[in-house]
Amino acid sequence: MSAPAFPTRIFSGIQPSGGLTLGNYLGALKRFVEKQDEGIETIYCMVDMHAITVWQDPEKLRQQTREGAAAFIAAGIDPKRSILFNQSQVTAHVELGWIFNCIARMGWMSRMTQFKDKAGKNSENVSLGLFAYPSLMAADILAYKATHVPVGDDQKQHLELCRDIAIKFNNDYKVDFFPVVEPVIEGAATRVMSLRDGTKKMSKSDPSDQSRINLTDDADTIAKKIRKAKTDPEPLPDNLADLKDRPEAKNLVNIYAALAGHTAEQVIKDYAGAQFGTFKPALADLAVAKLEPITLEMNRLMQDTAEIDRILGEGAERADTIARPIVDQVYDIVGMIRSRRG
Ligand code: AMP
Ligand code: TRP
Repeated sequence: MSAPAFPTRIFSGIQPSGGLTLGNYLGALKRFVEKQDEGIETIYCMVDMHAITVWQDPEKLRQQTREGAAAFIAAGIDPKRSILFNQSQVTAHVELGWIFNCIARMGWMSRMTQFKDKAGKNSENVSLGLFAYPSLMAADILAYKATHVPVGDDQKQHLELCRDIAIKFNNDYKVDFFPVVEPVIEGAATRVMSLRDGTKKMSKSDPSDQSRINLTDDADTIAKKIRKAKTDPEPLPDNLADLKDRPEAKNLVNIYAALAGHTAEQVIKDYAGAQFGTFKPALADLAVAKLEPITLEMNRLMQDTAEIDRILGEGAERADTIARPIVDQVYDIVGMIRSRRG
């Protein structure tokens, strides 16, 4: 755990680069709500600056940012208890991001698997922002001196880099300024897989809509996607170890567990010997029961986009009051003249 000098504070972010998926919900959103409800200080951000590291249509980006914020609120984030805002409204993030670009090493960034996956064979042609992405992510977190970051499994490496940046900054400037953050990767669904291929992450950017459940899908669509999800012909076993080489089956069991708030062990006990003809409808019913109220509330909130913008603006002001003094201190530490501020 972090030193007492750094009180527990949670930060996390989601990119508005598409509609949110069941993966985002189970791996991130649902857990963000749990942390808020535990009474911990929680700061959540739609990271629009990260989204533009790959091309975004401006109108869609605005829409997706609002929709993401609506999803947070519909899932249970209370903008009074948590701070909820979009990244570009708090300039401390990009300011600290630049300083971190000068702390992080090219070699560290080159090793990021998400960059390698996203750039593929095209690394000469992707944006410079995509390469520097994890440095801005470290700035998001450390602009608040956040100590804990709930994320899905795919963000582990980025958080290790955030720790490296904090340590190098503290060492280079001989200060004990930034906390070394703890990733919080827990629960039955830290990695929700595609419904079409159990070896691929469920992602908002997958070209196949059948591969994912979107938080905007209606009940019929959810049920249909689960019915059509790829599986194998075997019944469910009575223990988790026997799911080892059955990624699609394992994924559906994990999704069931996370939605029900049970462990995967419990689910496999309850459904030992069941065929997918039985398990899939049960999963579809559960998914609809859990997701439909969120979708309906999201749709209701999206009727009043001015209210969503107001909430994001208010959140940004509250975020700024925490981040501004921290980033101002960073300017002092690195030796910038700040005479305008006195
Ligand atoms: P992104 O959509 O990439 O901005 O991710 C936002 C949050 O959702 C991060 O904490 C991710 O780790 C999490 N996340 C995204 N996709 C999945 C998935 N398929 N399974 C679990 N968590 C996920
Ligand atoms: N990189 C994260 C993702 O794609 C999004 C993100 C940006 C984030 N800044 C963050 C997550 C800070 C946690 C903390 O999922």
